[in-house]
Order: sequence, then structure tokens, then C-alpha cells
Amino acid sequence: MSGEFSGLVAVVTGGASGIGQATAVELAARGAAVAVLDVNTDAVTPPLRGYRADVTDRASVEAALASVAADLGGIDILVNNAGVSAVGTVEENADAEWTRVLDINVTGIARVSSAALPYLRASSHAAIVNLSSIAALNGLPQRVLYSATKGAVMAMTFAMATDLVSEGIRVNCVRPGTVATAFVDRMLAGFADPIAERAALDARQATGRMVTPQEVADAIAYLASPRSGSTTGTALDVDGGVTHLRVRK
Ligand SMILES: NC(=O)c1ccc[n+]([C@@H]2O[C@H](COP(=O)([O-])OP(=O)(O)OC[C@H]3O[C@@H](n4cnc5c(N)ncnc54)[C@H](O)[C@@H]3O)[C@@H](O)[C@H]2O)c1
Repeated sequence: MSGEFSGLVAVVTGGASGIGQATAVELAARGAAVAVLDVNTDAVTPPLRGYRADVTDRASVEAALASVAADLGGIDILVNNAGVSAVGTVEENADAEWTRVLDINVTGIARVSSAALPYLRASSHAAIVNLSSIAALNGLPQRVLYSATKGAVMAMTFAMATDLVSEGIRVNCVRPGTVATAFVDRMLAGFADPIAERAALDARQATGRMVTPQEVADAIAYLASPRSGSTTGTALDVDGGVTHLRVRK
């Protein structure tokens, strides 16, 4: 296949839905061979290849990455996208919920990245892109646990980029605003008035609407691209202006 990612193999965790799916499709359209690692691969269709793995289970991650490398000839790009939402104030999430969400959103990235590094080290265009969030920098209502995980992802990104720069492995993250995906639909279902909450989510962006999965996928593709060789240890906001703009309403 010709294209910017021609000859490269990309792994997208959580690539069966939402932002991950849009990213997997975009990387494939730009020439990559793309493997989707997900707990549910039923929705994965060619040219994407599905590999069942749970980012909380090291054995399943290692087995899936070994299969990807054997099937596709290595791994050049890792998009650590798998993640779950959590709603609540600091009083509202039980200890077990903290353990569960941190395990998926934070330790999951460490688990998949460490398992992928032996393959990435063999690549001359190795890149990792992590999914942080505006929640890393902005105090969003009822998102204490989720924000803790996404702040951790941002901090991990900078630390991982530092450790890996001498090996030619770039590490960056995106900080999306609220993206209209199934993830948001599920979160809205937990509110008494989901329609009012959706309108509030649209209004939160200075642009007046939620971010699209494609817009985040394009940002991830930019950071993962072999053409971005000088970009490492950065966080790219794809947030409709939430973080830095103060518009008159
Ligand atoms: N949607 C948003 O508003 C938004 C904003 C900022 C950041 N993000 C982040 O983007 C990422 C993707 O979000 P989305 O909205 O596309 O979500 P989504 O729910 O549409 O997709 C998440 C995917 O991850 C998979 N997944 C969940 N747990 C997994 C596990 N343990 N192992 C493997 N796969 C697992 C799911 O099966 C699903 O396919 C998440 O990390 C999320 O925190 C989302």
C-alpha cells in the first residue's frame, strides 16, 4: 500500500469503537497495516485485523502483540487508546471502582507499552501515542477519578518520552475535548436529564459542538507519522478551544 504509513504496522488498543476505530481506519487509509486490540473484536472489519486482548491482563496483551508481530512483520506504532469513563465526585466512587478504572486507563498503558517495546525497538519509525483528555488540565464536574487517570496518562507520556528518546522512540499524547462517541452516550445515560447534559457538553467547547472522532484520529495520525520525527513529549489539544479560550457568551 502506498501512503505516509506505508510499510508500517500500527496497533490500536480499544480500536473496535469510537476514537480508536476512527484512528485505526485513518492509519490504514494512510497505508499502515493495522491491528486492533480490544476486549470485543466483533466489530473489526478488513482491512483492520482484530486481536482479542484485555489491557488489564498482561498474558492476553503479550499473546496478542506476539501474534500481531508474527502476522504483520513487527510493530512500529502503538496507540494506547483503550479507556473507560468514570463519573462521580471524590465521595462517590468506591475503592473497587478506583482500582478498576486506574487499572484500565493507567496501568493498562504501562502494560501494553512495556510489552510492545521489544518490537518498537526494532523499528526505525517507532512512535507511541497515548489518549489523555482535557480532564488532565481542567476541573470538570464529577470527573475526579477519570481526571486522575488522564492526568496520569499525560505525566506518563512526558516521562516515557524522556526515557525512550535516546532509543529513537517518540511518545506523545492527545488531550481531546468531549468527543461524540458511544463512550459519551453511556456516560449520558447515567444522568437524570441526558438531553440537557448533552447540550451542556456541546456548549462546553468554544466551537459550540463536541469534537468528532475523525478530528482526534487525524491528530493521532500526525503524532504517529514518520514525518513528525522531531515531535516527542508533547500533548496536542483537540478540544474545541476548551483549555485555552475564554469566549464571550
Ligand atoms: N469520548 C470522549 O469524550 C473522550 C475524550 C477524551 C479522551 N477520551 C479517551 O479516548 C479513548 C477512547 O474513548 P472512546 O470515546 O472512543 O471510547 P469507546 O467506549 O467508544 O471505545 C473504547 C474501546 O476500548 C475498549 N476497551 C475498554 N476496556 C478495554 C480493556 N480493558 N482492554 C481492551 N480494550 C478495552 C472497548 O471495548 C471499546 O472498543 C479513551 O481512553 C478515553 O478516555 C475520550
